[in-house]
Amino acid sequence: MAIDVEPVRTEQIEFGSLIITYDERVLRPRRWTTAQSAWASGLLREAPEGPALELCSGVGHIGLLALIGESRKMVMVDASDVACGHAEANAERAGLAAKVDIRCGRMEQAIGEEERFALIIADPPWVPSRDTARFPDDPVLAIDGGPDGLDLARTCVELIGRHLHDRGSALLQVGTAEQLATISDHLFEEPALRLRIAEYRTFEDRGVLARLVRPDS
Ligand SMILES: C[S@@+](CC[C@H](N)C(=O)[O-])C[C@H]1O[C@@H](n2cnc3c(N)ncnc32)[C@H](O)[C@@H]1O
Repeated sequence: MAIDVEPVRTEQIEFGSLIITYDERVLRPRRWTTAQSAWASGLLREAPEGPALELCSGVGHIGLLALIGESRKMVMVDASDVACGHAEANAERAGLAAKVDIRCGRMEQAIGEEERFALIIADPPWVPSRDTARFPDDPVLAIDGGPDGLDLARTCVELIGRHLHDRGSALLQVGTAEQLATISDHLFEEPALRLRIAEYRTFEDRGVLARLVRPDS
């Protein structure tokens, strides 16, 4: 009996100096996010000792590009088995496999209570659920951020609050300046998180990056 199923085709994209593979079951790497890698790379040079963390790392390109030339290690967490498989292959191709610890699973369960990180990169899904149909080529797991698009971003902020080194920085990606204002309100309402937004950068209608630090740093 013939089985009429299209095979999954692995694709490649240049991402900074890296060649990154992915396929249709994961989010296609977005070139503008090289800016998140570049910012993270600069922060790593000044960060305290210790490993870095990337939450919602997908196929690994943002964290891997940031790690080039760095001696420190990075934990990468993503809930998609397919994305984690590509991240492993991408790390291997980049010569960075020994520096990355890829943890495949929900971020809420992936980090040990005692673990602390000098830099945390977070790229959660941030599309409001009602708008996900506008992006039929993107997997829902990779883009659906719940009613206001910020369910997963709030989870990232929770984990950043718990696991960021006291003199470290986090780089959180959201979709719009309005979403970042909602996150800023959330940080005011939850002082136990001990986080503030130190600065942010907007990338037209593609996304917004914010640097989070401890209130006293
Ligand atoms: C916006 S994509 C970012 C992927 C990659 N960093 C990029 O920029 O292309 C969000 C990622 O979050 C992952 N994800 C969704 N829910 C998650 C969860 N609870 N824990 C860990 N990863 C999750 C998805 O699998 C997806 O790879």
